[in-house]
Amino acid sequence: MSVFDSVLGLKSFRSCKDDTIPRKSMGKVLEAGRNAPSPGNVQSLEFIVVEDEHKKEFLSESAGDHRLEEVPTAVIILGDIDRMSRRFSDHMAREACNAEAACAVQNMRLVAEEEGIGSCWIGGFDPERVSEQFGVPTGKEPLDILGFGFSLDEVERPSKFGLNEVCFYDGYGNQVGSAFDGLEWKGLHEEREIYGKKAGGFLTKLRKRANKYL
Ligand SMILES: Cc1cc2nc3c(=O)[nH]c(=O)nc-3n(C[C@H](O)[C@H](O)[C@H](O)COP(=O)(O)O)c2cc1C
Repeated sequence: MSVFDSVLGLKSFRSCKDDTIPRKSMGKVLEAGRNAPSPGNVQSLEFIVVEDEHKKEFLSESAGDHRLEEVPTAVIILGDIDRMSRRFSDHMAREACNAEAACAVQNMRLVAEEEGIGSCWIGGFDPERVSEQFGVPTGKEPLDILGFGFSLDEVERPSKFGLNEVCFYDGYGNQVGSAFDGLEWKGLHEEREIYGKKAGGFLTKLRKRANKYL
């Protein structure tokens, strides 16, 4: 499956089997997280893999999400805010860690999907309680929790805004007709819709060049 198809097909599961995830697959998923891009290449992330039933129950309760007690494996993503703030200001450091964590999460979810493993992304939980329960040292913080499991449901992917509604050419609000809806933008219509702009650009250049010699 192409990366494009994987991105378009990625969705969170609502429920999953309790079949164990093979260590080899989990290793690949974690490796994908470790290889996420990092602001300033500080590499602020660490990962706690949770398989213990009581600890998953705790996570589920602290996030208010039943999926975390159903999954065979959850992963807590920690950001080293202290290390990041030696490179950036305190405010920036948190943002940088969150950005790095988001990249890691998406890397991990995509590689999990390739391994046939579904996932859910949980950002809403009490980080202090989670830190205390898992012995996270001061200066480091749980930023996200990922649940991994073999999906039980065929969930519909929630609809997204159309490309035409969120993507503009050369200035806010400049839409390229209806050609940007869905995948059509790759097609011939795009050529027709932006032809005027392309031709305009070419003619302007030609006129400028001609003016030089007149
Ligand atoms: C930073 C971030 C935090 C999120 N936190 C939660 C969460 O706490 N609980 C949850 O159910 N989904 C959470 N999500 C998942 C989104 O709700 C989900 O991606 C969105 O509804 C689209 O669904 P899909 O992933 O199935 O396409 C989070 C997503 C992001 C990017």
